[in-house]
Amino acid sequence: MKVNHNYAQLEESYLFQTVNHKVAEYAKAHPERQIIRLGIGDVTQPLPAAITAAFIEGAKEQGKPDTFHGYGPEQGYDFLREKIARYYQNEIHAEVSAGDIFISDGAKSDVGNILDLFDKDNTVLIPDPVYPVYVDTNRMDGRRLVFLQANEENGFLPMPPEGQEADLIYLCSPNNPTGACYTYEQLTAWVQYAISQDAIILFDAAYESFVTENLPRSIFEIPGARGCAIEFCSLSKTAGFTGTRCGYTVVPQELCRDGMHLHAMWLRRQTTKFNGVSYPVQRAAAEVFTPEGMAGCRANLAIYQNNARIIAETLTKLGVWFVGGKNSPYLWLRCPGGLSSWAFFDELLEKTGIVGTPGSGFGACGEGYFRLTAFGSEANTKEAMKRLEEAYA
Ligand code: MLT
Repeated sequence: MKVNHNYAQLEESYLFQTVNHKVAEYAKAHPERQIIRLGIGDVTQPLPAAITAAFIEGAKEQGKPDTFHGYGPEQGYDFLREKIARYYQNEIHAEVSAGDIFISDGAKSDVGNILDLFDKDNTVLIPDPVYPVYVDTNRMDGRRLVFLQANEENGFLPMPPEGQEADLIYLCSPNNPTGACYTYEQLTAWVQYAISQDAIILFDAAYESFVTENLPRSIFEIPGARGCAIEFCSLSKTAGFTGTRCGYTVVPQELCRDGMHLHAMWLRRQTTKFNGVSYPVQRAAAEVFTPEGMAGCRANLAIYQNNARIIAETLTKLGVWFVGGKNSPYLWLRCPGGLSSWAFFDELLEKTGIVGTPGSGFGACGEGYFRLTAFGSEANTKEAMKRLEEAYA
């Protein structure tokens, strides 16, 4: 019997698990200390009332014989997919139809599962630093990874590398972990490069609802993208669904590679290995795209956006270099005093009780950097920034 030895190539534990263990140890040693968590990008505001009401209504329907639902449609309920398609068309101005959309339990699973469609003998371009899921899921399969260096010189937005071949390309904008956001011109260059390589862009749009400036929120705003891209999006950050679980993946119906239809392959994959998202969750998700539901989501997003502004102001006052925080809930800063990412993690926790995420956990180019999230409560964010100012002024 043989096991998948590619697992031996992975870090011993997932980044946020390692952070949690360290924080738990610190909390045990300092029970009096109030810890403020600005580490993992987990939301703190409750679901808006209209969305909770739809969730409850959906659950009640499941308890009555005439409204009960068994297995749902393969790609998700039309009432949800049609609303998402309208959101793409009217809010984002991207060319996406309900037929392209697959409902899932979140972007993380789909980002990993999509690899079932692609051969293991593919060259994969991945920015560094990056959301660890892209790296780990490819390592599990043993694919060739080529890292694209993101750094202060390129504003943490790497561009297509000259002379480099590629089959799969991961892009995330607004970016996790750096908060940097590609412009229309930059994404156009990526789409043109992908077409020239006959490659597929796997575009993570999980943070699109944080864009406030004239910047792309979907790869499908870019001409030509329907012929070379798959997009993953999630209600985790837009609507506070990290614990409720619902996302969507857009696979253009005409997208083909190597003589195969990727949309048909994904449908085949999902119908074989996945039985859909529960009916009440899809009812709640559909409410996100109503005027009342979206107003509730926007009110919560405004709290996080204000937190990002508060953090940015403090870092500016302290003279700390950073990127992000404007069209993103993440701020990516250079560790003060030239410390390594983990050394700063320890120092910050010790001095202030603030938990962040060490940049090196997102890749070698993240060494010496650190990520803070704006997803805390306003009170905690203000308290954290007060402590930061006291400790580093
Ligand atoms: C993060 O902190 O990077 C995110 O919470 C990860 C995720 O959304 O899975």
